[in-house]
Amino acid sequence: MNTLHSIAQLRAALSRARQDGKRIGLVPTMGNLHAGHIALVEKARQRTDFVVVSIFVNPLQFAAGEDLDSYPRTLEADQRKLLDAGAHLVFAPNVNEMYPHGMQGHTRISVPVVSEGLCGASRPGHFEGVATVVSKLLNIVQPDLAVFGQKDFQQLAVIRKMAQDLCLPVQIMGEPTVRAEDGLALSSRNGYLSEAERQTAPVLYKTLQSIASEIQSGQRDYAALIERARQQLEIAGLRADYLDLRDATSLHPVTANTTDMVVLAAAYLGKTRLIDNLHFVIN
Ligand code: PAF
Repeated sequence: MNTLHSIAQLRAALSRARQDGKRIGLVPTMGNLHAGHIALVEKARQRTDFVVVSIFVNPLQFAAGEDLDSYPRTLEADQRKLLDAGAHLVFAPNVNEMYPHGMQGHTRISVPVVSEGLCGASRPGHFEGVATVVSKLLNIVQPDLAVFGQKDFQQLAVIRKMAQDLCLPVQIMGEPTVRAEDGLALSSRNGYLSEAERQTAPVLYKTLQSIASEIQSGQRDYAALIERARQQLEIAGLRADYLDLRDATSLHPVTANTTDMVVLAAAYLGKTRLIDNLHFVIN
């Protein structure tokens, strides 16, 4: 398993793989890999013959004051995990390789509506940064399949919409969130939590589960339910950035007729911003 840092080298390696008739899979990541990322690699391995994992902490998707500088960069440990997982190639460009003329005047991909609200409201420019870097990675690698985690539910919706609108010749696949035994969604940012915060963190997913189960048992006063859940989070020590029920496909606010729902949350635990979601259907 090679690690390549330049687009030219990567393209040369990929053209050889393509000439050998291989289907290409891409797993875009920002590194600091955990079992959730490895599940994406495994899915790509099942569906394609040659799996590229990109590792790039993309400055364009971080707003001023966010954790760009402190975001964990652990390339050597990531390489060992990817070798064990059977990835074929790691693409680890630096910022200059991806943005050789800087980011200021760089072309941006903006995906309206689905990028608005939720994380889009609290992280201005975030989804534009994600859509721009993902479209670059898709153009660089030209994979048959690209795999993303469902933990970033809104991100996945943005990427699907972008691929559809721009007629990108790639299948976008979402994979279920991998959780710790106590339910906490695996995330590179969990590493920021103190021991005490880590004990508290599973409350986020438990809250989502209790909202889903109340709705599945017939509760229809969504506003009151969400408000109660928000207070419960607060009592447990989590400050909700948002806690919202949405249509799972469009991400529009739910109506009385919505049956395919997702409850999404972002909450601060100390300085760490955790996100999670739970997709469910009602009869
Ligand atoms: O989910 C992530 O790790 C990033 O947002 C992604 C998709 C790799 C783009 O930088």
